[in-house]
Amino acid sequence: MPAESASQSALLSVRGVTKRFAGVVAVDGASFDVAPRSLTALIGPNGAGKSTLFNVVTGFTRGDAGDVRLDGEPIYGRSPHAIARRGLVRTFQLTKALAVMSVLDNMLLAAPGNPGERLGLALLRPIWRRAERAARERALELLDVFGLSAHAGDYAGTLSGGQRKLLELARALMLEPRILLLDEPLAGVNRTLARSLLEHIEALRAERGLTILLVEHDMDVVMRHSDTVVVMAEGKVITSGRPADVQRDPRVVEAYLGAGASSERRP
Ligand SMILES: Nc1ncnc2c1ncn2[C@@H]1O[C@H](COP(=O)(O)OP(=O)(O)OP(=O)(O)O)[C@@H](O)[C@H]1O
Ligand SMILES: [Mg+2]
Repeated sequence: MPAESASQSALLSVRGVTKRFAGVVAVDGASFDVAPRSLTALIGPNGAGKSTLFNVVTGFTRGDAGDVRLDGEPIYGRSPHAIARRGLVRTFQLTKALAVMSVLDNMLLAAPGNPGERLGLALLRPIWRRAERAARERALELLDVFGLSAHAGDYAGTLSGGQRKLLELARALMLEPRILLLDEPLAGVNRTLARSLLEHIEALRAERGLTILLVEHDMDVVMRHSDTVVVMAEGKVITSGRPADVQRDPRVVEAYLGAGASSERRP
């Protein structure tokens, strides 16, 4: 992979992204590619800069430098909304479902906005009615896929932690993403649910051609499910490649050991 020029075949191409917080270089010239339909894992010790990189790539944090392209189109510095509309959608480490809203309304809230309604253009009512109906159908179909149909009318706040994780995934899919960025989707999730979440993620890839970029600390999961691993340490991408090769890479082992022998999140 050439260091500076964007790869032609990449769906997502990240070049030289840098983000500083007072005194801390959280992300330091990070570059990597995500191939279409791949499941790419972004790993690294605590504080390596993974979440910050996600925030810059998805427009939630303004970077200090860099270039990010989605299918060749520049998205660096654009708003999260504009980036999501182009097909790059993320979930958060903490789930953002609104507790006092029904599960179905949470889904509909995630649907792409409706300009007619926003502008109060009564003339367009038939068009937005149709859009609303389509969004509703899509929401119900996704709730069915994730086994949440029975809870459509319940307040999201009554869902279990695991069900909220599923809802978060389902909500992200309302935007019909081309690439989904997941920041530790399995954190705090029991084994059974983790397996179910992973099955859903695999199915999304196989059946909908979705590309996935995933921050994950569980190395068993990374080894078993990803086809490419990108490793960050101290803000830099130190290497990337196939899981088995990366696991053997002495730089990777050193990065984890260097991050503190007390860390329980080692490969
Ligand atoms: N809003 C912020 N203000 C100041 N420093 C920040 C901010 N966000 C992150 N940092 C710092 O930037 C560095 C990278 O943090 P980041 O959360 O991106 O790491 P991470 O790889 O996601 O870690 P983890 O695996 O623990 O989630 C850390 O030193 C962190 O303290
Ligand atoms: Mg993080």
